[in-house]
Amino acid sequence: MKYLQRKIKMKRKLLIPKQIVTVNSKNEILHDHAVEIVNGKIERIVSLKDLRTSEYDGDVLDYRNYTLIPGFIQTHIHLCQTLFRGLADDLELLDWLQKRIFPYENSHTKNSLRASVRLGLHDLLTGGTTTILDMGTLHHQEIIFDELIESGIRAFAGNCMMDKNELYPAFCETTDWNLKSTYDLAKSFHNSNNSKVKYGFAPRFVLSCSEKLLKETKEMMKDFPGSVFHTHSSENKSEIETVKRMTGKENVEYFESIGILDQNTILAHCVHLNDNEVKTLKTNSVRVAHCPSSNLKLGSGIANIPRYIKEEISVSLGADGAPCNNGLSIFNEMRLAALIQKPIHNSTVMDTLTVFRLATIEGAKALHIENEVGSIETGKKADLVLLDLEKADQPIQLSDDQIYSSIVYSSSKENVKAVMIDGELVMDDGRCLMFDEEELVGKGKEELIKIV
Ligand code: GUN
Ligand code: FE
Repeated sequence: MKYLQRKIKMKRKLLIPKQIVTVNSKNEILHDHAVEIVNGKIERIVSLKDLRTSEYDGDVLDYRNYTLIPGFIQTHIHLCQTLFRGLADDLELLDWLQKRIFPYENSHTKNSLRASVRLGLHDLLTGGTTTILDMGTLHHQEIIFDELIESGIRAFAGNCMMDKNELYPAFCETTDWNLKSTYDLAKSFHNSNNSKVKYGFAPRFVLSCSEKLLKETKEMMKDFPGSVFHTHSSENKSEIETVKRMTGKENVEYFESIGILDQNTILAHCVHLNDNEVKTLKTNSVRVAHCPSSNLKLGSGIANIPRYIKEEISVSLGADGAPCNNGLSIFNEMRLAALIQKPIHNSTVMDTLTVFRLATIEGAKALHIENEVGSIETGKKADLVLLDLEKADQPIQLSDDQIYSSIVYSSSKENVKAVMIDGELVMDDGRCLMFDEEELVGKGKEELIKIV
C-alpha cells in the first residue's frame, strides 16, 4: 500500500485561523492572530493588524472559519488491537483478555499487525490526536515502529513485555527474550524519526510480568534518557485480588516495593486505589492515564480523578484499545471524563477547561515533552488541529468560555478539518492525507480473515 502524497511540504508558512485556543499558562484565546511556522516550529504568533498577508513570502494557509487548538495527546493506546474492534464486546477485563485479546494478539502476523496499526493511526489522526503513548505487542514490534515513523505521528512506543501468562500460557516469552528484544528495539528506535518517536518501556501488567522483568526493565531505562515506563495498574477488582494473592500487595504498593515508581512511570487506569496508594502516586510523581470509555465498557469502575487532580497527581487521557472502547477518538474520552464524575461528586467537578487541558498540555507534561507540544506558544512544535465549530449543532459563540464547552461537550471527530504534526499537514479539508481509507478497510478485512 502506498502512502498518499503529503499535500504541502514547505518550510515557512502562515496559518490564519478564526481564533487560537492557546492552552498557555493563562489559557489565552486569541482572535485575529496568525501563527507563523518555520521548519516545523511555531516561530511567532502575530496580530493580523501587524501583518500584510499579501506580502508574506511563504505559504499562507487560510483557515479563517476554523478554530486552532493544540494537537491532542493520548497517553494510553494499543494500536495492535484496532483490527479486533467489535470482536470482544460485553466482557470483563480478565475474560476479555483470556478469551479474546491474548489469543488475537498472539495470532498477529506481520501483515495483520501492520493493517491494525494503520487502522488505528487513521482513527487517531483524523480525530486530531498528534501524540500517543502506545503499549505495543509481544511479537513483531518493529512493524509498529515502522508505521509510526511512516505516518508522521509523535509517539512513545515499546514492545509489550510478558514473561508469564496464566490466563493464556501460549502468549508469553522468557524473561531474557523480553529483556533482549526490548533493549534492541530501544537501541534502534528511541529518538528515531527526528526524535518524534521515543521508547516507552511497556511491561504489560503485574499478572504478565515477573519481578525480575519489572526491575530490570526499570534499570534498562537508564540507558535511554527521555523514555518512559508504561504499564497497566489497578484496573479491575479480580485483577487486584489476583495481584494480592501473588505478591501480598495491591498494584501500586507492589510497584513501590520493587522501586519502579517515579516521574517517568505512567500507570493506565488506576481505577481502584487505596488511600496509601494515592499518597504513593503523589510522593513519587507517578502519572495516571485515565481511560474512561474502557473503564466503563469493561465494567472496571470509575477512577477518582477529581481526587487525583486535587492532590496534584498528573492525569491525562487515553482511549486504550479499540476492542474496549470501541473508538480512538479523544472527544469521547473528554466528554466521558467530565460526565461520569458529576453524579458521584457534584456537577462542578471536571469543568470543560480542566478536561481540555488533560487532553493537551497535561498529556505533554505526563510524557515530559511540555516544552515541545501541548500548547500553542512560540518555540513549540507545530502540532496543531483545526476544528470547524461553526455548525448548527454547536453553541452559538458569544464568549470565549463557550469554546471549551463546544470542544468537550458538543464536538466529535467530525469537527476535525485539518491536522498538522511538526508543521506538516497529515489531514486537510476533512480528509486524511496519509492513508486511503478504503484501502485500509480492504486490507484490514483481508488480514483479519486469515487470523481469527
Ligand atoms: N491489562 C493488561 N492488558 C490489558 C489490555 O490490553 N487492555 C486493558 N484495558 N487492560 C489490560
Ligand atoms: Fe490498555
